[in-house]
Amino acid sequence: MSDAPDIDALVADARTAIAAARTTDDITRVTTQVAGKKSPLSEAHRSLGKLEPEARKQLGQRLHEARTTIDDLLDRRRTELQLAEMEAAMESDLLDLSEFIPGPAAAPSVRGHLHLVSQTRDALEDVFVGMGFEVAEGPDIETDWYNFGALNIPPAHPARGMWDTFYLNLGAPETTLLRTHTSPVQIHLMEAAVRDGSLPIHAVMPGRCYRRDTPDASHLPVFHQIEGLVVDKGITFADLAGTIEVFTTAYFGPDIHSRLRPAYFPFTEPSAEFEVTCTICHGSGCRTCSQTGWIELGGCGMVDPAVFDAVGIDGDQWTGYAFGFGIDRCAQMRHQIADMRALNENDIRFLRQF
Ligand code: FA5
Repeated sequence: MSDAPDIDALVADARTAIAAARTTDDITRVTTQVAGKKSPLSEAHRSLGKLEPEARKQLGQRLHEARTTIDDLLDRRRTELQLAEMEAAMESDLLDLSEFIPGPAAAPSVRGHLHLVSQTRDALEDVFVGMGFEVAEGPDIETDWYNFGALNIPPAHPARGMWDTFYLNLGAPETTLLRTHTSPVQIHLMEAAVRDGSLPIHAVMPGRCYRRDTPDASHLPVFHQIEGLVVDKGITFADLAGTIEVFTTAYFGPDIHSRLRPAYFPFTEPSAEFEVTCTICHGSGCRTCSQTGWIELGGCGMVDPAVFDAVGIDGDQWTGYAFGFGIDRCAQMRHQIADMRALNENDIRFLRQF
C-alpha cells in the first residue's frame, strides 16, 4: 500500500488550483487538470484494478468522495466566475443616460438632433422644393371618402384589402380611419385648388401612414410616405418619368437611377411602380434586392379621369401625374439599414449615428 495515492493531498492540490482560477477560461483549464482523463484523480482510479478486492473497495469509496468534493468545488467556482463575468459585461455595456439629463449630472450637456426619419423627410422636401414643388400636408385621420372613395376605390374594391387599416368610427354617420397612404392629400389639394381657382398644382405631401402590416425588416405598421402631385396643362408620362429620375440621382447620388414597371393603382392610369438601383450592390444583384439590382420605392402614374371627376377638375383641359413613396424606405436605402424596425426602437446608440 506504500504507493497508494495520497487522496487528501490530491484534494488539497485541486482545492488550491480551483481557488486560484480567475476567469472561466482558467476554470476550464483547471477542470482538465484536476478532473480530466490525465488528472491524478483519474490515474488513481485506474490504479484500482491492481488492488486486492478489500483494498479496492476502500480506496474506491474514498476516490468517489474525492471526486464529488472536487466536482462540487469546480461547479461552485465556475458559477461564481460566470456571474462575475456577466456582471462585468453588463457594466461595460451599460448605456449611461445621465449624459442626456439636463442639470449638474450632465457634463457637458448634449444637444440632440432630429430623428433620422425627420431628417430624411426634410432632405426629400429640399430636393422637390429645388425642382419647383410646394410642400403641403393633410390629416392623419381621414374619412372613407378621402382615403378610398375619391381615389376611385369604392366599397368592396379589392384594393381595400391591401390597404387595410385601423378604423376609428366604422359606419355612421361617416366612417373615419387612419389613412393608409398620403394619396388622400391629393384630393384635399385638388378640391382647394378648384374652390380657390388656383390650379395648376405642383406639390409634395409628406406624412405618417398606418396599415395593418406586420412589422418586418422592410415594413412598419406606422410609417411615412411622401406624395407628389402635378396638375397642369399638357403634362405627360415623360414629365413623370423625368421628375422621378431627377429626384433619384439628386437624393441618392449620380450612380443610382430609376426605372418604371407597369403596375395597377385605382387612382392612376397608366400606373407604374418605380424602382431605384439597389444601394447595397449598386445594381449587380444581392440578397437585399433578390438578385434583381433594383429596389421598389413607390407607386406612380397619370391621374385617373375618375379622380378628376370626383374633385370637379375638367380632365379635357388639365392632365396630371402623381407618385407616392416610402420615406422610411428611402432612409433605409440611403443608409443601408438592414432592418427598418431599428428606426422605431429608440436605441440611442443606433439613432446617434445619423
Ligand atoms: C401606395 O401607397 C400608393 N398610394 C402610391 C401611389 C401614389 C401610387 C400616387 C400612384 C400614385 P404602395 O402601397 O405600394 O402604394 O406604397 C408605396 C410605398 O410606401 C411602398 O413602395 C413603400 O416604399 C412604402 N410602404 C408601403 N407600406 C409600408 C410599410 N408597411 N412600411 C414601410 N413602408 C411602406
